[in-house]
Amino acid sequence: MNTYEVIKTRRCTRKFKAEAVPDDKLEKILDAGRAAPCGGNSQTTHFLVIRSPKVLKELAELVCRTFSAMEVKPGMYKSMQAVIKAAQKGNFAFHYNAPVLIVTANKIGYGNAMADCACAIENMMLMSNELDLGSCYINQLHWLDENAAVRDYLMKLGLAEDETVCASMVVGLPDTADGLPQRTERKITGNPVSYVD
Ligand SMILES: Cc1cc2nc3c(=O)[nH]c(=O)nc-3n(C[C@H](O)[C@H](O)[C@H](O)COP(=O)(O)O)c2cc1C
Repeated sequence: MNTYEVIKTRRCTRKFKAEAVPDDKLEKILDAGRAAPCGGNSQTTHFLVIRSPKVLKELAELVCRTFSAMEVKPGMYKSMQAVIKAAQKGNFAFHYNAPVLIVTANKIGYGNAMADCACAIENMMLMSNELDLGSCYINQLHWLDENAAVRDYLMKLGLAEDETVCASMVVGLPDTADGLPQRTERKITGNPVSYVD
């Protein structure tokens, strides 16, 4: 696929096979993430790559427990409301049981923390598509960045005390009949463009 095709056919995958992502493919994905542009060429994005099934299970349970203890409030972001409701039913696996979760973190107080991490995540999702792997942006760990239990857990995995959790993604082999990601082009109805000539 050329760059345009990779961009236009990238869609979120939310159903994965249990199979591991081959090391060479994962390395290419991380290479793409590390090559992303960053403010002032600071290169402070930290990529925490979680592959341990035990850790993924524990983290998913912790995230589910944490959201299930929250209350849906009027005016709350729609996706957050959906997550709290799913967690309260006990069936919320924020990582969709993917074999790999990549968490990006950056320095607390660095103004481009989220922008740098989001650029890295997009590069990695595009590279995943190029490699016939499915991926999905994951926001829940960012939402829980200030939750003490979640932070403690991530710090045990390698998150530094001076880092804030920004964007995350999951990647794996898509659970589809042909094993390829679902690549239907998404109809774009928003995102207006204004030309100033
Ligand atoms: C900032 C951001 C946060 C997102 N958070 C989540 C998430 O937590 N869980 C999820 O399943 N998808 C998440 N998504 C994926 C969007 O739902 C998805 O990109 C959008 O619906 C368009 O669909 P597509 O990516 O398949 O084209 C997120 C995407 C972005 C850019």
